[in-house]
This record gives sequence, structure tokens and C-alpha cells, in this order.
Amino acid sequence: MNEFISASPEETRSHANTFAKTLKRGDIVALIGELGTGKTEFTRGLCDYFECGSRVSSPSFAIVNTYSGRFGDNHGEINLYHFDLYRIKSMDELFGVGIEEYLYDDGICILEWADRFPELLPRHTQTVSFERLSENKRKIAVSKKSELAS
Ligand SMILES: Nc1ncnc2c1ncn2[C@@H]1O[C@H](COP(=O)(O)OP(=O)(O)OP(=O)(O)O)[C@@H](O)[C@H]1O
Ligand SMILES: [Mg+2]
Repeated sequence: MNEFISASPEETRSHANTFAKTLKRGDIVALIGELGTGKTEFTRGLCDYFECGSRVSSPSFAIVNTYSGRFGDNHGEINLYHFDLYRIKSMDELFGVGIEEYLYDDGICILEWADRFPELLPRHTQTVSFERLSENKRKIAVSKKSELAS
């Protein structure tokens, strides 16, 4: 477990940028924490690292947003799949969009509110938890192994 206290949205993005360096193709990142704790802000930092160049916002209606970025020394293409499970009511909605294909793709899957459907998460899922300490302070805890997946 690696804990970090962020004092601003910029620091949260920059922490995400550092974390992104450790990511590999096929990785799955579960972002857990209450409303407004910085999950989308952290996703922005991940997308910046992979040079996705798109505006990142929570995929509330589409279920998933796909951002195309660059990976590794040869700058090959990599897809980042950004899910927000907050409004999802059943696993069927997720199977409806073919979530398994995203989870087992060679891109990187980022799931806000992944704790809503822990049974969905493969064993290699990494967890990043967010806690609000004050108006601008957030505790961000990165755990290498999923605490959610069974
Ligand atoms: N240290 C910080 N890190 C991240 N966000 C911060 C921080 N301090 C203040 N904020 C503010 O908190 C809010 C975080 O919003 P964000 O959309 O990232 O949260 P979220 O966890 O994705 O929420 P939701 O569950 O609604 O999707 C933003 O308005 C941001 O400006
Ligand atoms: Mg969000």
C-alpha cells in the first residue's frame, strides 16, 4: 500500500502521472471513493501521461469513454477505457456493452466506482482509493493487488 496526500487537483493529476509509469498493457485500475474525491481528476492525469489529448469527463451516459494514447518507447497506440459504474444498476448493463472485452483487451481499463461490482474484477485489478480529508486535501492509496476482486 502506497499512500499519498494530495493538496490540490494538480497534485492528484501529477500523482496519477507517476502511477501511470508503472502501468502495462492489459492493466485494470479500480478507482474507489465517495463523490467528488478525485477519481475523474486522477483519470485525467493517467490520460495526460499516455498523451490521449482528449477532454476527460465521467462517461455518465455512454458507460465507457475510449481515449487513444501512446505507449512505450515506440509510441505505439494504446486505448484507455474509462468506465463510471455509479449509475449502473445491474451487471447485465455492463455485459450489454461487452465489458469483458474491454477488461481483457490490451489497452488499460479504468473503472470509477468499481466497488459497485467487485465480482466483475479480474484478480490482477489494481485499486486506487480516494478519501476526502478537507476541502482540498485527498488521501490517495494505491494498492498493487485488488482488495475487491475475489
Ligand atoms: N486534492 C484534490 N484532488 C482532486 N480533486 C480535488 C482536490 N481538491 C479539490 N478537488 C476538487 O474535487 C473535485 C473532484 O472531482 P472529481 O470529478 O475528480 O471527483 P470524482 O471522485 O470523480 O467524483 P464522482 O464520484 O462524482 O465521479 C473537483 O471539483 C476538484 O476540483
Ligand atoms: Mg468521476
